[in-house]
Formats: sequence, C-alpha cells, structure tokens
Amino acid sequence: MWGNLLLILIAYFIGNFSTSYFVGKLFAKIDIRDHGSGNAGSTNVLRTLGIKAAACTFLGDLFKGVLAVYLGNKFGGETLALACGVSVVIGHNWPVFLGFKGGKGIATTIGVALTIKPFVALICISIGVVILYKYKYVSLASIVAISLLPFTIVIYGLNYLLFGLILALSAIYRHRENIKRLLAGNERKIGEKSRVK
Ligand code: G3P
Repeated sequence: MWGNLLLILIAYFIGNFSTSYFVGKLFAKIDIRDHGSGNAGSTNVLRTLGIKAAACTFLGDLFKGVLAVYLGNKFGGETLALACGVSVVIGHNWPVFLGFKGGKGIATTIGVALTIKPFVALICISIGVVILYKYKYVSLASIVAISLLPFTIVIYGLNYLLFGLILALSAIYRHRENIKRLLAGNERKIGEKSRVK
C-alpha cells in the first residue's frame, strides 16, 4: 500500500521534470512559458526555438511517461502502471516546482500509452497524425487523438477506461484556450514562428 503510494508520488515528480523549461533555459536562457502560447511543451518550443529544441523536448517528455509506467509495472504490476501513468501526466501538467504551470500532457501521454498498450496508442497517434497533416493544428490533432483513447483502450477493461478518461479529460481541460482559439479561427498552425521576446 505505502510502497504503491510512494511510486505514484515518484511518478508525479518524474512528471515535474519539465523538459521544455530546461530546454528553454539551455538553448536561449528563457522561460518558455513567457513565449508563444505560454505552454511548457514541444509545440511551443518548436515555434519559439526551432526543431532541434522541440525534438529534445518531445523525446524528454515522452521518456518521462515511459519511465513512470515501467517503474509501476516493475514494482507493482498492471494497475500500479496505470496509476503511475496518470500521475506522471498530472505531474507534467501541474508541476509543484513550477507553480503548477506546466504543459498539456500530450508527449508524456504518448510515452505512457505506448508503454501500456502500444497497439491502441498507435491507432490514436495515427489518427492524430492524419488530422495534423490535413488541418495543421497540433492542438486539434492532440485533442482528437487523446479523446479516442478511452473509447479504444476500454477493450482491455474498466480500469483502462477510467485511465483513458482521466487522461482525456485532463488534456481537454488543459487545451481549453486552444479550443477557444480553434473556434474563433485564430489558433496557431504548426510551423508558425514566434519570436523570442
Ligand atoms: O500538446 C500541446 C499542443 O497540443 C498545443 O500546444 O503551444 O499550441 O498550446 P500550444
């Protein structure tokens, strides 16, 4: 019981390691949250600092998800892996060390989902990639892909449905400003640059 709670807490703190924050400091001595969309994530790093910095951010955030699920699986099994997967994304989105102003959890969720159920993850990612290719909005692709997660992962059981629902709802909540911009027609498309202020 206490061991499991400790692992869930460790997963939360793994999530707190905001790759985009450190990449921003290392590449340009900036706080990425003061630039572009203000989000601590790879899409905002791409528009602000370019492709190399964005790739580092994406891979770092994805790896956090892989690591948290791996630890959960190793020390507790399937249910703890699901709990650690949720916890690392919450830690990424609401990091205590950064005043609870983190990212939107997409890259970390990709790492989590790929480690837990690669087949389902690849279906959701593929649909997201098609939407991104067609409409050029990372936010739209992310929202659609993660919204499909609960509907697809439910085939493995109700605990997976709950896992998928929590991740989808938290991502939709974190994308609420993007949703407003998409509806208003002024969301930034992928590739649109934002100058470092
Ligand atoms: O994963 C984040 C992405 O969907 C949107 O990022 O910076 O455009 O708000 P951003």
